[in-house]
This record gives sequence, structure tokens and C-alpha cells, in this order.
Amino acid sequence: MKSINAKVLTIATAFAVVLSIPLSMQAQDAAATYKSKCAMCHGADGKKAAGHDLSGADVQKESDADLEAVIANGKAPKMPKYADKLKPEEIKGLVAYIRTLKQ
Ligand code: HEC
Repeated sequence: MKSINAKVLTIATAFAVVLSIPLSMQAQDAAATYKSKCAMCHGADGKKAAGHDLSGADVQKESDADLEAVIANGKAPKMPKYADKLKPEEIKGLVAYIRTLKQ
């Protein structure tokens, strides 16, 4: 009985590890994408673009769909559009990353 439980536990642990790898890679990818494509305007902490603090309440109260739309379609005059440069999953990842900047 004990050895069966140990086997089940080992298999369950292996599954958990395998499943968690893509998730953590996605989070790292989003952080790297943010650093390379967004931080020069928004700053590492999201506060650099005056009046458009990504960590602040005005941006954080927007829905994920609204933030995805801004990143995909851009916003005049200076926010570039990324629909043709990033995949939808990457844009979703960036929104999740922006949520981590919340204060
Ligand atoms: C060339 C500078 C620049 C780059 C690069 C840039 N942004 Fe922006 N972004 C802006 C500016 C300026 C605004 C404000 C637009 C406006 O309303 O006038 C903005 C607005 C936004 C908003 C909406 C904020 C609000 O006030 O509603 C989000 C979300 C956003 N950017 C995310 C990103 C992400 C994610 C990236 C990287 C993929 C990125 N931006 C790259 C300049 C930039």
C-alpha cells in the first residue's frame, strides 16, 4: 500500500513539474518582452510615461480586454501598435505582467 502511494505521489509530482514549466516560461518571456519593447517608454516599473503610469489605478482598473486592445492597436499619438509584431498570447502575457506592476 505504501509503495503504491509513493508511486502515485511521484507521478503526480512529475506532472505538476511538467505542467508548471510552460507557465513560468511564459511569465519570464513576458518580463523579457516588456524589458526589450516597452520599458524604454514606460520604465521598468511602468511609471515613466507621464499620465500613463501602468502601475497606477487608472490603468489597473481597465479590463484585460481593454489593455490587450491598447497594446494590439496602439493609442495615439505615441503608443505604437503591436498586433503585427506580437502574438495574441504574448500580448496576454504582457497584460498579466502589467498586473504584477500594480501598487
Ligand atoms: C514609443 C514609446 C512607447 C512604447 C515603445 C510603448 N508604449 Fe505604451 N504608451 C506610450 C504612450 C505615450 C502611451 C499613452 C498614449 C496616450 O493615451 O496618449 C501609452 C499607453 C499605453 C497603455 C495604456 C495606458 C493608459 O493610460 O490607458 C498601455 C497598457 C501600454 N501603453 C502598454 C505598452 C506595452 C505593453 C508596450 C510594449 C509592448 C508599450 N506600451 C510600448 C508609449 C509607448
